[in-house]
Amino acid sequence: MKFDFIYLDRVDSTNAYAQRLLKESLAGEGTIIRAGEGTVVRAADQASGRGQGENSWHSQAGMNLTFSLILEPLFIPPEKLFSLNKAVALAVLNTVRNALPGDLPASIKWPNDIYAADHKIAGILIEHTLIGSSVKNSIIGIGININQLEFPASLPNPVSLKQLTGNDYDIREMLDKVCRNLENEYSRLRNHEFQSIDADYNSKLYGSGRDLEFTTGGSSFTGRIQGVDDIGRLCVLTADGGLKMFNHGEIWINEKLLKKSL
Ligand code: BTN
Repeated sequence: MKFDFIYLDRVDSTNAYAQRLLKESLAGEGTIIRAGEGTVVRAADQASGRGQGENSWHSQAGMNLTFSLILEPLFIPPEKLFSLNKAVALAVLNTVRNALPGDLPASIKWPNDIYAADHKIAGILIEHTLIGSSVKNSIIGIGININQLEFPASLPNPVSLKQLTGNDYDIREMLDKVCRNLENEYSRLRNHEFQSIDADYNSKLYGSGRDLEFTTGGSSFTGRIQGVDDIGRLCVLTADGGLKMFNHGEIWINEKLLKKSL
């Protein structure tokens, strides 16, 4: 893939900027940019960084990596579109893992948060433009906490690479690394390696392989994560042997109990 990098000091949100580029194929100061597959918008600072759902994304100016990549994954069958989330999560996870010592655990918290040492170190926001049920383009928004040392107390459990290792990281280098990993995972998708992507993603899910306490619809139950299906639902084996599928926002893992069991 040929990457075209656009670097901005400050923007509302790199996802929103990428969306405008796709609509207008125009950037300021008279330069015409034809945005498409491989366009990367990185900003040092986002005035209104967006998170999943109604959430915002906090990142101290100049301390972290916040960027959006435009893809045109027209080759992915609509019913397999969630495999793009899985591939992106694997790419970000590998980038984080390679930046940390091998004994620090990192994993994917369903659907696509990246956790390191039980804290959220990166978030992913994927926005598709569809024609009917087929995808026309996707904006892959990625935020990785890199050098920030203090986070607002209101955030549930953030962490940065520097908090975990004490080292300073070169943000530009981290961007190169994550782009290389994204390219690798994307070519697996191009080759329709859906099963091996599924297997990799499932094997790296936070909390998998042990009994967990879940909360759904106001009540709690014990179960084991079995994996995530093609449309992104979490599949949980309950204590009575039944398999249950949950959409994002329908179920929560009791993280306090999970940490105690680690
Ligand atoms: C989440 O975990 O809630 C998703 C966070 C995604 C944040 C990134 S930062 C770069 C890109 N631009 C945005 O406005 N959001 C994404």
